[in-house]
Amino acid sequence: MPKIIVNANRSKGTINKNIYGQFAEHLGRCIYGGLYVGENSDIPNVNGLRTDVVQALKAMGVPVLRWPGGCFADTYHWQDGIGPRESRKKIVNTNWGGVTEDNAFGTHEFMELCRQLGCEAYFSGNVGSGTVQEFSDWVEYCNMDGVSPMAEQRRKNGQEHAWNVKYWGIGNEAWGCGGNMEPEFYANLARQYATYLRNYSSEDKIYKIASGANVADYHWTKTVMEKAGRFIDAVSLHYYTLPRASWQNKGSATAFDTAEYYTTLHKTLKMEELVENHSRILKQYDPEGRVGLAVDEWGTWYDVEPGTNPGFLYQQNAMRDALVAAINLNIFNNHCDTVVMANIAQMVNVLQAMVLTEGPKMLLTPTYHVFALYRGHQNAKQLESYAETRLLGTGETAVPDLHVSASAQPGGSVLVTVANLSDAEPAPLECILAGLGGKKRKVTGRVLTAATNACNTFAAPAQVAPRALAGITQTAEGFTATLPPCSVTAFTVTV
Ligand code: AHR
Repeated sequence: MPKIIVNANRSKGTINKNIYGQFAEHLGRCIYGGLYVGENSDIPNVNGLRTDVVQALKAMGVPVLRWPGGCFADTYHWQDGIGPRESRKKIVNTNWGGVTEDNAFGTHEFMELCRQLGCEAYFSGNVGSGTVQEFSDWVEYCNMDGVSPMAEQRRKNGQEHAWNVKYWGIGNEAWGCGGNMEPEFYANLARQYATYLRNYSSEDKIYKIASGANVADYHWTKTVMEKAGRFIDAVSLHYYTLPRASWQNKGSATAFDTAEYYTTLHKTLKMEELVENHSRILKQYDPEGRVGLAVDEWGTWYDVEPGTNPGFLYQQNAMRDALVAAINLNIFNNHCDTVVMANIAQMVNVLQAMVLTEGPKMLLTPTYHVFALYRGHQNAKQLESYAETRLLGTGETAVPDLHVSASAQPGGSVLVTVANLSDAEPAPLECILAGLGGKKRKVTGRVLTAATNACNTFAAPAQVAPRALAGITQTAEGFTATLPPCSVTAFTVTV
């Protein structure tokens, strides 16, 4: 029987809760319709924010939320989104479908969303088409509690106290939609912007995240670290999982064969190599490990659902996406010594979403359920884990059958999350828990499993949902269980 070994004596440290971060852009129906419907909507809302969506996301656990983009961020002028709504400027969303953006959802509405979700805010500032002054003013507007021009403006707009926003991204994809810059040029800009993003409180220091590399552009990371490393706190990395090689023909979210299922998983496993290589560069320029890696865009990217606006990036979410989520979250957990944040793209109705909506209807995707199953890893102590694996498939796209991470909760219980990547074979396994002592333990498991292309629809919203895993047997050293094919399981071991 294949073994999984969890070693409670070896840890890389705490799994930053922000690894479970989300991303919400002014793109398609993510903000408008998905999160924000306005106070006058028939859809139940609190201060314009959908009650059903907020409640669901709160139950899943959102530690941090990145906003307002994405590519949109480098066209966004934050002053357009404050003050009385009726007088806010209407602009064209040039990145995403050319639709009218009426700026009804701006800084105050976003901070209200963060309040309702109980999460931290991560602002992505405009470097591509904005100015240093504009960005610096945004920080002052949000974080200055005393007397200042921006603080006064905020108060006039109804917010007395500073929000103390900690996370600030210095541009987005500066190598692409954020200005098509060369790394040397961007690194200099990052230094300049970082200089004027001030701390307005000695206790609550802001955390500056530089726009990082596209996939395996190691030259970008090297240059930013070499020239701007000492001015920033983290560097980002963006990597999307596309089943096929072409952006024009990425593949469907639900219509794929077994070969494409395995290719997708193979491609997503590349995240490990990317995290390791970029982290190595960070360490080279910052041996003390002060600068972290923020994977602030990741997830699957398919062709849009037939009949939907190509600029809205709306895609279904199947059990394959659950596997992708499990693999990436395991990778981030297992590299928690350098990965300080990760933000799946995106939270609602866009790309690999947690929640899909259609008018007043809402459904939870398989990806949502993985985040919920993994919630106990947030801020827990990572434990080293190893899986005895065999390869599924052949050649370049072979993948291991099992993928695992584990953590210890402050109360002493252990969470082991395991994905069985096989589309057809159950995986009987023995889990050995080393270093937990000989105390009597209770083991429970919750599993998410379905056919690789199974998904939740508005007609049948709970087809893919977690359930208790039966047949867990305790052994002297741990437990045995059988994982269904194409499944994600969270085992909780309580001592
Ligand atoms: O998430 C969609 C887009 O993907 C973002 O706006 C951009 O940063 C990335 O290219």
